[in-house]
Amino acid sequence: MKFPADFVFGAATAAFQIEGATHADGRGESIWDRFCSTPGKVENGDTGDPACEHYLRWREDLDLMRSLGLGGYRFSIAWPRIQPDGRGPANRKGIDFYRRLAEGLQERGIRPLATLYHWDLPQALEDAGGWASRETVGRFVEYAAIMFDELGAVVPDWITHNEPWVTSFLGYGYGVKAPGLTSWPNAIAASHHALLAHGAAVRAFRERVDEGRIGITLDLTIAEPATDAPEDVAAAERLYSHHNRWFLEPVFRGSYPEDMVELYERCFGPLDVVHGGDLEVIAEPIDFLGVNFYRPNLVAADPGQLPLELREADRPGPRTAMDWPIVPSSLTELLLRLQRDFPGTPLLITENGAAFHDELDGGQVVEDPERRAYFQEHIQAVAQAIDEGADVRGYYAWSLLDNFEWEHGYSQRFGLVYVDYPSQRRVLKRSALWYRDLIAEQQGRSP
Ligand code: FCB
Repeated sequence: MKFPADFVFGAATAAFQIEGATHADGRGESIWDRFCSTPGKVENGDTGDPACEHYLRWREDLDLMRSLGLGGYRFSIAWPRIQPDGRGPANRKGIDFYRRLAEGLQERGIRPLATLYHWDLPQALEDAGGWASRETVGRFVEYAAIMFDELGAVVPDWITHNEPWVTSFLGYGYGVKAPGLTSWPNAIAASHHALLAHGAAVRAFRERVDEGRIGITLDLTIAEPATDAPEDVAAAERLYSHHNRWFLEPVFRGSYPEDMVELYERCFGPLDVVHGGDLEVIAEPIDFLGVNFYRPNLVAADPGQLPLELREADRPGPRTAMDWPIVPSSLTELLLRLQRDFPGTPLLITENGAAFHDELDGGQVVEDPERRAYFQEHIQAVAQAIDEGADVRGYYAWSLLDNFEWEHGYSQRFGLVYVDYPSQRRVLKRSALWYRDLIAEQQGRSP
């Protein structure tokens, strides 16, 4: 494998998953605090505390990144630390935390990449309708503008939204993630408002920050039909439209895919949440597309499953602890398809990784051969896509640390670094050492 000299190898995290300290320094309640305290929503009743206590231990974590030779770090900003109620003046202590973090990265030669929204909406805004309400768009742009003004000089790269498909469809449609609601019309509205908030934030960024790059991160899939039957082939295309094109096409082309507009309107009536001029805002040019990829989907038609009329079919082969299939070639395929469909915008892999049941056995290093293989094969898949013409500029492993995996609580470990939650001790996994050596080798130095 040989990557371009300026290719960034980094790692990613998200605020709610690692910070802990959910009551510190004036932080307000987020929809994930509320979701966690609602019985039955999160495995084992786990909450955002203690997570990795990163809010207290961030210096140690930056040193850890440095020791691995990471070139970039993707973190997210907790909106409720900045505006506890989602509106009004900034909470200085919240700003200071992220400023120190960004400066600490810069001091260690690690390039900061900040995500503005990784799912922790201030609960006060959810009480006013959350992403299903158009009001939230304006609130988000105010918050984004605060962050651009405060940190624009120390953070070169920004992501508006992380995985708006998850925000909207898992949060407001399927109800498995916060705020845990189950209305498809609201989910569709939420997806539009998240996209509109993205575009409006990009505009605000251009007005406020002279140098710097901004993009959006989408969770993208490859959808394969379970059989050659025309109804399965159509179902796979439907999933690709719903999951990928619904977000990609407004961002890159300023229009929603016809097939989905037709389906949603047939099921739920006119899409009147889309106002004149919205799509122009959403299509504000971006500097890169962030791609989160974990696994492809094998799809079968299923008329009983409304509104999409499809289901995931069983796929033989290896799987992670999340029960996600491991198919690295799908990442190559996805990157080449993005390059073909939307040429001209660089791609960044902003998340990729795998959960396995790691064990602390008293040794110096946690042995995680399956994760090491997952990373190796997927990074290889990225190299192949680059060879075949995809313009990929970086790879951020998910995740730096084991952390709070949303509705699964602490039961799923995705880290390069093992976290022993009771003692908060960090223990390197073999995959971290492998990644460190790969980075060094790519830079032509010894680790
Ligand atoms: C992604 C999320 C990230 C993490 C991984 C496993 O969908 O962006 O926070 O939970 O999945």
